[in-house]
Amino acid sequence: MNVSRLDGDQLLARAGELAELLVDAVDGGASVGFLAPLDRAVAEAWWKERAAGPFAVWMAVDGGRIVGTVSLAFPDKPNSRHRAELVKLMVHRRARGRGLGRTLLATAERAAAAAGVTLLHLDTETDSPAERLYRGAGWTRAGMIPDYAADPAGVLRGTTLYYKHLSALTG
Ligand SMILES: CC(C)(COP(=O)(O)OP(=O)(O)OC[C@H]1O[C@@H](n2cnc3c(N)ncnc32)[C@H](O)[C@@H]1OP(=O)(O)O)[C@@H](O)C(=O)NCCC(=O)NCCS
Repeated sequence: MNVSRLDGDQLLARAGELAELLVDAVDGGASVGFLAPLDRAVAEAWWKERAAGPFAVWMAVDGGRIVGTVSLAFPDKPNSRHRAELVKLMVHRRARGRGLGRTLLATAERAAAAAGVTLLHLDTETDSPAERLYRGAGWTRAGMIPDYAADPAGVLRGTTLYYKHLSALTG
């Protein structure tokens, strides 16, 4: 298993594979911004649009195929250069339960700290498996917002907000 960051050209070239991951996550019921069924072309276009933005994407590759991903979204506000939002942490259902999610999360955290980011934040569906992953990785629960977003089936679910200070990683 190899985890690496995609540059803009790689992101455009491999948007189709990343789209497969997004479609798989939605098919599996994960609340990642889309309703089911998610059209593969829509998912691919979403990834391609990210190539232009303040966005960093990592991929986990196994047997030449992308099986997991995580991204950081950087705010464009001048007063927010110290923070980033962790988004789209996804592992293909075939590859889950082997520590890949934890590895991708740690990779993004290390890269953020190395880039001078001192605060990460995210939101995730309340009571989803991902919550345990974040808590286990030392993230702090900031609170919960009910009825925040529709799950893939269209049912409104709460979201839980988490944050993590990275100063400990940079020493
Ligand atoms: C969340 C997700 C990325 C975890 O990926 P993974 O590779 O299976 O995770 P790991 O094997 O690294 O597991 C790490 C920890 O996560 C937690 N975890 C993972 N899957 C879990 C599950 N089904 N139920 C409960 N906890 C779970 C556990 O704490 C686990 O540690 P442990 O095995 O020591 O108990 C994956 O389930 C996924 O892609 N889900 C769909 C997309 C999603 O919801 N992403 C989060 C959006 S914010």
